Amino acid sequence: MPGASATPTALCVDDLRKAYPRRGREPLLAVDGVGFAAEPGQVVGLLGPNGAGKTTTIKMVCGLVRPDAGTIEVCGVDARRRPRDATRRLAAVLEGNRNLYWRLTARENLLYFMGNRGRSPRAVAPAADALLERFDLADKRDALVADLSRGMQQKLAIAVAVLAGTQVLLLDEPTLGLDVQTGDEVRRLVRELAADGRTVLLSSHDMAVVQDVCERVVVIAHGRLVADERVETLMRLFATRAYDARLGAPLTPAQAADLRRAFPLVSVSDDGLHVRVDLERGDDVYRFIDVLRRERTPMESLDRVAVRFEEVFRHLVNGDGPARGAWPADAAGAVREEVSRVG
Ligand SMILES: Nc1ncnc2c1ncn2[C@@H]1O[C@H](COP(=O)(O)OP(=O)(O)OP(=O)(O)O)[C@@H](O)[C@H]1O
Ligand SMILES: [Mg+2]
Repeated sequence: MPGASATPTALCVDDLRKAYPRRGREPLLAVDGVGFAAEPGQVVGLLGPNGAGKTTTIKMVCGLVRPDAGTIEVCGVDARRRPRDATRRLAAVLEGNRNLYWRLTARENLLYFMGNRGRSPRAVAPAADALLERFDLADKRDALVADLSRGMQQKLAIAVAVLAGTQVLLLDEPTLGLDVQTGDEVRRLVRELAADGRTVLLSSHDMAVVQDVCERVVVIAHGRLVADERVETLMRLFATRAYDARLGAPLTPAQAADLRRAFPLVSVSDDGLHVRVDLERGDDVYRFIDVLRRERTPMESLDRVAVRFEEVFRHLVNGDGPARGAWPADAAGAVREEVSRVG
């Protein structure tokens, strides 16, 4: 069979569009040309502010919302032409816990849904019990879902999806409402799934989760794709520009005002001895140093700061991120040189 030896891309979405009709107004473009791909063993984060179109995208991928246009392939299967075949290859946990039967027990839910997928409940029982144990739900195995806490229901919903053993797993806000320990357990589980060769697409507002578990991130805002990059690449790109300056004498109020005018994203510590600044262009370094030079303020150090993904995300969504390759390769070198000259 031609191409049989190559593993198909686990999830491939292209130019996906969805408009929701609105009474008396033009339709709302919830998803407007989104495309991305995810390979086996990859965890891809789907990020965006509220209303960006993340849930709509996930619902289209798992066949709950019909796209107006675009293509979705799950393990090489065209989801629009062969929807059943495609959905068999994925499992999803959507916002809320609607994929559970409230009048069945925790364990019955796990077995029931596997039965739905044509698996023998007896065969999956040991794996089901192991997952209940892992999520600290063993003592709730015979409790009705209706009687579980919201967090427990969320854990059970994730367990149901994981147990399905599909190549692709879609998790919409998987750690929302979970306590710290359970959130950590979910992160660990997601990493293990990826190590096992499975593909996870997860949406989250928790940047720490994204930084921690995602290899790639797809950012959407107003239904449009803003970025599709490796998390590491984005962090590196943004890290070039955040600097932390320690001063030998406090900034004067006039200097602080100058800095704020020149660099909108500057923050000055209360004692005026620490400055955190985003130097967007290569020559920003010189503008920054000029402000300090005016009062002969000594600079003790100027260090590049490790950015947090949260900041990267804010820049991406605001559209003020660096264009790829916009940074002088050696901004840090220029800074060091200038520091040694001034100091
Ligand atoms: N069934 C629907 N009918 C009409 N409009 C909808 C429907 N579902 C979503 N929308 C609208 O589509 C847009 C995208 O919503 P969506 O739920 O996909 O966003 P999201 O990125 O998941 O947001 P959040 O971070 O708040 O979960 C929003 O403006 C929302 O109001
Ligand atoms: Mg959502």
